[in-house]
Order: sequence, then structure tokens, then C-alpha cells
Amino acid sequence: MTETGNVENILKQGNVLILKTATATAKISVYHAAIIKVNITRNPDKADTSFAVIQNAETDIEYTETANDITIDTGALKLIVGKAPLRFNFYTTDGKVLSEDDSRFGVNWQGERVVNYRKLYADEKFIGLGEKTGGLNRRGTHYVNWNTDASRHTIETDPLYKTFPFFIGLHDGLTYGLFFDNTHKSYFDFGATTDDEMSWFGADGGDMNYYFFGAQTVAGIIKDYTWLTGRMDMPPLWSLGYQQCRYSYMSAEELLDVAANFRKRKIPADVIYCDIDYMDNYKIFTWNKEAFPDPKGMIDQLKAINFKVVSIVDPGIKVEEGYKQYDEGVAKDYFATYSNGDKYIASVWPGRCYFPDFFNDEVKEWWGASFTALTEPGIEGFWNDMNEPAAWGQNIPLNVKFGDKYIGEVRNVYGMEMTKATYNGTRKILGNKRPFVLTRAAYCGTQRYSAVWTGDNTATDEHMLYGQRLINSLGLVGMSFAGVDIGGYTGNPTPELMLRWNSLGVYIPMFRNHAEIGTAMREPWHWGDINEKVIKKDIEQRYKLLPYIYSGFYHSAQTGLPLSRTLAIHHTNDENVFNLKYQNQFMFGDALLVAPVESTKLLADVYLPEGNWYRLTTGEQYEGAQAVVVPAPLTDLPVFVKGGSIIPMQSVIQSTSEKGDGILELNIWNGNDATEYVYYEDDGDTYNHQNGTYYKRTISFDPQAKTITLSEVEGSFISRFDKIKLVLHGFDKGLKALTVNEKAVKLNSLLANDSNEVTIAY
Ligand code: GLC
Repeated sequence: MTETGNVENILKQGNVLILKTATATAKISVYHAAIIKVNITRNPDKADTSFAVIQNAETDIEYTETANDITIDTGALKLIVGKAPLRFNFYTTDGKVLSEDDSRFGVNWQGERVVNYRKLYADEKFIGLGEKTGGLNRRGTHYVNWNTDASRHTIETDPLYKTFPFFIGLHDGLTYGLFFDNTHKSYFDFGATTDDEMSWFGADGGDMNYYFFGAQTVAGIIKDYTWLTGRMDMPPLWSLGYQQCRYSYMSAEELLDVAANFRKRKIPADVIYCDIDYMDNYKIFTWNKEAFPDPKGMIDQLKAINFKVVSIVDPGIKVEEGYKQYDEGVAKDYFATYSNGDKYIASVWPGRCYFPDFFNDEVKEWWGASFTALTEPGIEGFWNDMNEPAAWGQNIPLNVKFGDKYIGEVRNVYGMEMTKATYNGTRKILGNKRPFVLTRAAYCGTQRYSAVWTGDNTATDEHMLYGQRLINSLGLVGMSFAGVDIGGYTGNPTPELMLRWNSLGVYIPMFRNHAEIGTAMREPWHWGDINEKVIKKDIEQRYKLLPYIYSGFYHSAQTGLPLSRTLAIHHTNDENVFNLKYQNQFMFGDALLVAPVESTKLLADVYLPEGNWYRLTTGEQYEGAQAVVVPAPLTDLPVFVKGGSIIPMQSVIQSTSEKGDGILELNIWNGNDATEYVYYEDDGDTYNHQNGTYYKRTISFDPQAKTITLSEVEGSFISRFDKIKLVLHGFDKGLKALTVNEKAVKLNSLLANDSNEVTIAY
């Protein structure tokens, strides 16, 4: 065991404060007032690089020193470093304890393994780590980060596909965040095995390298974390529509038939997928000439009925002479090797494969440029799978390396680097068009390139509920654009589960139905006429909500705040939020509270946090800060609207390529306090929004003054809507007039004849 020992030397170098002990060097830097980085290393000369972080420490570091400690007070966060022994303790600027090292152990090494032991507070809760099973509150549990092809996982399996070593601690009404930026296999113990004495985290190698966040709200911490690691850009609008997938549609004919069926039945949809069978023997960037003889012809036909195609790519390149990617990769030495330089071979779908070294920029370029095989026929969506990386048998030997990086150090970030290559490559090829990129494996920062889905789940109620926790937890680590396989990948859902899960999918950022080979067909028309109508109605609801959802993504792109938010984000100090009964509930944007419920239950236990609430479908009113039992028929998932909310909606369209009736429906739900809502629109397809071609308006609602104010339009985009229909909810019948932009709108006839709608010019 190597302890960090006592501080012997203090030195300021640029913006970095350097403390030296006999065994270690600690480098402290301030990223901004609420973010302090601590890097404790035994290799101070080794460059400290990051895959995740895109900011630099530009703030000067000021400190004061006494005989026992060094204090850094940024004005938003205070770090007191104990000198003997070296300890790191964080406080609010007024001295409240946020998080302290366990005074006995602090940071130490056992061989290469580095661990930080921290104090555990009596009421401390932990949220975060992204895609992890278990409860919302991770107290009392232990996790490992080691990206894994977790097929057939249960609701307890750990690790899964992704690594996000970032958590938020909550205690004594205080909040803090900690991002352990270390890509080696890592461990987090939130008091699982320590008799409630301490928590600890560490990794098999690398430095004790972390960022400490001191913002005093969960939303503030997420904002700071996504400032540090980046935020998503606006996704293509079409990717927010309904997506239909299957492993696999086996031929162009089948694919076209499925797409045509959506149109024939008037079930809205935007996306259809090509899973691995579109390829020739699963060779990436090829087409199966028999089953898909004319990819361009097929995609043109799909385009003509407003469908986009997303196709899968896996990293494994089939070992086969004469196959372009194989020949080029071998000639240029682009593949992973063993320590002695022999190429590493493992089996995946295509049989024996080599694995591109995505840590090499030249390989990234080469990979990115290969997408012309898919973009030329017209594909704009790219699904990155098997990139943990997966190999049959799982455990890639630890002497496999990519360039000079051994897999133990970079396995957790391989998928992200593949996704980065895919995103950058397809962006380049598609010019000004937005590619849609989806990935299974990820590390912190992946939100800059891609959406994620949670891999191979199972068709059961418990998977549906825990899947929602995964989505909500991914939202805490910057991954707003996330989805699950709706219906469950493995196994066959009952019709009830299919209906329920589909209705929940309306409120999942990525709404994709997907199923494994060999399972019963899953498309909406396989469930009988009555159920088809229910599924269709729910998908229509998704399309009606798209103006709200798109504005929600704008919010994610601006602030990092996710679309699907655990209630712990805004109601952090409300204990009920963590109750196992209510822990799956989430806000979908600012306005909607969704309560997932099993398909076998027709009554739901719901907790409504403080405020006033309405049931979305019936308008029934509820006071907040109470638990309620509400009807939950399969035709009506419990969804509630927060009083004071403004929800923009549109008419039903069959795909996002349709314009609709040109009316933007502004639903105003009466409340007590004044509220504001930012409405955002752009062309949904290009990067022109980055040059000011967008349409943005702040809509304010003051329930006391009975005024609605639409701000001046910002940006140069012409809205797709030319009229606004105000739809009022929860206003009393005696209401005579409402002032919209300082003009009185008469409501007497309107509310008298029981209508609650009024149309105004835009
Ligand atoms: C993996 C993916 C799954 C996909 C299958 C075939 O299991 O997780 O979504 O359908 O591979 O490509």
C-alpha cells in the first residue's frame, strides 16, 4: 500500500497549484468557480489527457496557507487541503461540509490500483453513474465500470454497456458532484460494504483524477458537468419521430412492405432500420446483393413515402482477403494487436474479425470516409453496435492493444471513439445535413456525437420499469437523447405490455420499437385491431407533442438538462422522490410528469410533488405534495401536467416531413405563479441554426394578471406555423378576457359554450 504522505513542497505553475509529497504529486486547478479539478499522480511528467473534457482550466488559482492546510476559495466552492497527511475536503463558501476524505485513508495505491476513500454522511444519497441497474438512490450499492456486451442481462446485472464515472451526492440539504475521469476499469462503492462508515471509488490504473462540482442544485451540477464534457447538438427532427427496428428486416421487399404498412394504416413513423442482415456476410460497409439488390432504389422508394433509413455498423472487420476494409486496414496497420504486434482476432457476427484502432486519428478518418457506401444510396442514420467492444466469449485478453494503449486502459472509451469517428466522418460526407448517430457503448462526453440506447433488454414489466430508470439516470450524465428497445428485445411481450410500453415510449427521448431475431413480429398491426388503434393513438400523441419535444432538446443542447428527468433533479429534498414506489417517475421536459406503471396494474400509485397538477387526458386537478392512486387503463398512462405550464403542440402528421395544418397549439394550463417557456424551432435538418437561422420565442404566462406574452421572435427562420391556437385548461368559466401581447382576447362566448380554444394570428 502506498499512502500519499505529507505535503513537502508547494508550487504554483501557471493556473495549477502543485503539491508534492514523498510519493505523489497533486495538481489542483479551477475550471470555473464551482468546478475544481484534483489530479493525484505518481507520474507527474506524464501528460494528463482526457477523452471527456473539452474545457481548460483558465481561472487563476489563489490560495492561502497555514501550518496545517491550504485553502482555495473560489467564491462558489471552498477546498481545504490538509497537509499532513494530504487530504482533500470540500465546503460551501460559508463552511458547510460538502465532502471530505476519510481522514484515515484519503487516496492511496495498491500496486497500480488507485482508490479514494471518502466520508459518508448519515443521510447521504447518491444518484448518477448513467446506465446502471439498481435504484435511483445508489446508497448501499456497489458498481463496476467495464463496458460489456451484456446480452440477456437482468435488472441486477452490472456492468452493462456504458461507463459514466460521474455521480451526485446529496446530504443535509446540500449537493455536490464528482466526476472521476479515469477510463480504466473503475469501482464505486456507496457504502455497500463499509458499515456506513465511508464511500470509495477507484480504478485499476491511472491517476486519482477528479472534478469536484459545488453548485447547490442538481440542475446546476448537470449544467456544469455538461459545460465541462460538452452538450448534444440539435438532433435531426426526423430522429424524434417514431422509429421501427427489427433484427432484421431480411430483404428490401420486407422493409418496403413494413414502411408501406405504416402509411396504409396511417400510423405515423419516420424511421426504419437495417440491422446486420443488410450486409454481405456481416461485412461492414457492404450490401447483401441478393436480399438488397438496389439499395439506392429501395431508399428512394422509402424517401418517397417520407421514411429515413438507419443502418447498423459494428467495429469488427471480417478477416477475408479481397474485402476492401480488411485489405486497407491490414495494409496500413489499422487494427488492434497483441503486445508482440500480432493482430488480435476475435469472433463476432461476421466470424473472425480484426478491430480498428479508433484511438488513431488516421484510422478514425479512414472509418469515417468509408460511410460513403451507406450515404451514397441515401442513408443518414448510423447505428454503432457491439462497440464495448463485443467478442464472443467476452473477455478480450489484457495484452491486446490499440497503438500503445492497452485495452485495460481504454476499453471503456472504445465505443465512444468509434462513435466519434462515425459522427465526424458522416458529418463531413453529409455536408450541411445532420447525421443521426446511435451507440451502445459510451463514456462521458459521448453526448457530443451520439444518442444511446440501453442494449438488449427483455420483454417484461420489470425491464420496462428499470429501463426507465436507466433513461432517467443517463439524463443525469449528459445523455439526454436516450432510448430503450420498446417492447423488449428478447422474448415476446404480452399485448398489454406492448401497449403500456408503447405509451411510455411517447415520453422516451428516442422512441424506437426493436426486437430480436426469432421473436414474434412487433409492428403496431400485429396486436389486433383494437390494440392497433391504441398504439396508433399513442404514436399520434408523440407527433402532436413534437414542437414541445424539439424545444426540450433545444434546452438540452443549451443547458445539458435532459428531456427525461428523474424527480430528484427538481425535487431533490423531497424524500418521497426516492421511495421505491415512485422512483421511476420523471418529468418529461418542464411540464409533464410521467408515472410508468406495470401492464398488469390498472391503478397506479403516483406521487405528485409540490404544486398543482392536472391529469393530461382528463384535466382532473390534483394538489401536489401528496401520493394519489389513479386509474391507469392501458389506454391512458398516468401523465400529469404541472400547473402554469405552456405546452406547444401540433396537428397529427404522418411523418416529420409533413407540414401539418400550420396551427401551433399553445396549451396553457392554469396555475398560481407566473411561468416562462422558451419555444424553439429550426429547419430540423441542417446546421443553419448555428448561424442564426432559427425561430425562438419566450412565452410568458401570468395567471394572476391573466396575461400571455409572446416575446419578439429571435432568429431568422420562418416558422412552419402561421397561426396559434390557444387552448386553455383549468380556467374558470367566469373568465371573460385574457390579454395576449397586450391585446384583450374576448373569451365569454368561448368559455360559455364549453370550448376552450381560441385562434390568433401568429
Ligand atoms: C446486438 C444489439 C441488437 C442487434 C443485434 C444484431 O445484440 O444489441 O440491438 O439487433 O446485435 O445486430
